[in-house]
Amino acid sequence: MPSPSRRSRYIPFSPIRAMFRLADEMDRSGKGPVIRFHVGDPDFAPPDAVVEATHRAMREGKTHYPQSVGVHELRLALTEKVTRRNGIAAEWEQVVVAPGSTEALLAVMEVALDPGDEILLPEIYWPNYGQQSLLASAKAVFYPLGAGYQPDVEGTRRCITPKTRCILINSPSNPTGAVFPKETLRALYDVARKHDLWIVSDEAYEDIVFDADHVSLGSFERDLAEAERRVFSLFTFSKSYAMTGFRLGYIVAPNMTTATILRKTQEPLVGSTASMIQWGGLAALRDDGPIAVMRDAYRRRRDLAVGMLREAGLIDYTPQGAFYVLADLASTGLTGDEFARALLEEEKVCVAPAAGFAFAPHYGADGNPEGALPPDAAAPDYPVNPKARHLVRIAFCVSDKDVEEGISRLVRFAARCRDRRGASAR
Ligand SMILES: Cc1ncc(COP(=O)(O)O)c(C=O)c1O
Repeated sequence: MPSPSRRSRYIPFSPIRAMFRLADEMDRSGKGPVIRFHVGDPDFAPPDAVVEATHRAMREGKTHYPQSVGVHELRLALTEKVTRRNGIAAEWEQVVVAPGSTEALLAVMEVALDPGDEILLPEIYWPNYGQQSLLASAKAVFYPLGAGYQPDVEGTRRCITPKTRCILINSPSNPTGAVFPKETLRALYDVARKHDLWIVSDEAYEDIVFDADHVSLGSFERDLAEAERRVFSLFTFSKSYAMTGFRLGYIVAPNMTTATILRKTQEPLVGSTASMIQWGGLAALRDDGPIAVMRDAYRRRRDLAVGMLREAGLIDYTPQGAFYVLADLASTGLTGDEFARALLEEEKVCVAPAAGFAFAPHYGADGNPEGALPPDAAAPDYPVNPKARHLVRIAFCVSDKDVEEGISRLVRFAARCRDRRGASAR
């Protein structure tokens, strides 16, 4: 057969999917049940009103191609939402509906980046960003995170070169759970403005912030002239309304020019987002009640998990948002990868090794990642940021009971690993 494209072959597999497979195999072979901390899929059901509105849309024949940028009524409601809740100055034409923010991120990268351009990503990041920048033939450069996984603004500034076109900011963060204070976001915004960069603001977890109000980067440029705006704001129904399987997200483009280009880009990328799902989304926007209920549950689970992990000496920070925490297993002598596999085998608890959230390709002079491409469908093995080597990500979007049971097994297992390590050193 002819050779598949190089850029598609450069993409690594998602680390979460690998653990998924192992957990599924364990459950299928009857060795489970596995407590599933490896995936960020809420255990809640979507609000009844959403399910009902989606059914109704189908019964009413809303089953044809909608516009590529979304159903008009939904775009109007989203415009009202981002103006009121996010403080973003947007006309309805700037709101572009997408089948999830995953696709929206790729569409924005296609608009913001030319091949060979550099995009700044946080050094520990949601792996799809790295995959997507490879697919866009852009070069990912990683900006440093300091204590509590907060961005080091000076260090970020130092990453900028004449080829830098874009910075991606994700607060609340997956996988760290860090929420960046308004001053940090403002400082990053000012750096981007000074160097004339696009900002991709991934606000997938905007509604899951525990101890502060969510801040949208787009609100900083509310009073600027359209031509001076640079923030693409990305949102999703997946986490706020437990609608992961619906596949519904949206972009607020910084101005009419970028909105028009995005509209063109969505035509070849998705055609359009499923019609009945958008009517379900419209129903979700009418009631914020379920968001508060879920946020309270995540806060309770965060407190439970953090309390147990801190007592065991496995974390030194408190996540302020999303539903993730990174545990540090260095004291066990195992890498995150080794720990995750052994934990699944011995305790039937599945976590995601953080190495997969920190792959950092080295790029050659031709702008491609260095190293030979492996044959067939195998993916390259990229270097991993050493900061992530001993970390695992725990997603606490499972029941309180599973959080308690799963974390106590994890803590028990970590203690056993430390004892084994101590014994072998003696
Ligand atoms: C940081 C972040 N952004 C975007 C997404 C994508 O969400 P969706 O494609 O379901 O809208 C996720 C999903 O896990 C995420 O963690």
